[in-house]
Amino acid sequence: MDKKIDAYTFEEFISAEDIAIRVEALAVQLRQDYKDKQPVFIIILNGAFIFGSDLIRAYGEDCEINFVKLSSYEGMESSLEITTHLDILIDIADKDVVIIEDIIDTGATLHTFIENVKSRNPKSVSIAALLIKPEAIRYDIDVQYQGFSIANDFVIGYGLDYNERGRELKALYRLKSSKKA
Ligand code: IMP
Ligand code: MG
Repeated sequence: MDKKIDAYTFEEFISAEDIAIRVEALAVQLRQDYKDKQPVFIIILNGAFIFGSDLIRAYGEDCEINFVKLSSYEGMESSLEITTHLDILIDIADKDVVIIEDIIDTGATLHTFIENVKSRNPKSVSIAALLIKPEAIRYDIDVQYQGFSIANDFVIGYGLDYNERGRELKALYRLKSSKKA
């Protein structure tokens, strides 16, 4: 069923079942790669809170979990200016860090945040992103754990929002019949 928020209509395009299957596959990959290691997962709030929770529970092995809160979006556009509302509060030196992000659009958020992480001398850094918009990306970012590659549409659901709405939806929805320029 379509979801209406203000004047916009969103249609489902990735079901909750398909998300769950993909998340489980990423967890299998993580368990192989981090066997005998204890990764530090850093979840980027707000958007990645649901993906991060599901991915880490599916991973299910010893780990540390931390959160940062970054923002770049206003309405349906990335501002390219990243604001840090909550920074990394633990020591990640010599640790194997996995950054968990909801979606890579321009890539500005991750590009800026990776620099922050690397300046703290971790042993390794990898990235798990539920969604990637290859048409919108402007930075060269290596994503080891990728959920879905999608078109340049505005999406909500499974933690992603439009003005804080729609995060509760179990599936992923895209803006109907209107493409972002
Ligand atoms: P970037 O910095 O342009 O890569 O944008 C990344 C951030 O913008 C993500 O962490 C999301 O929170 C938000 N974002 C980007 N695209 C969308 C979208 O289609 N729906 C909701 N939020 C988005
Ligand atoms: Mg985000």
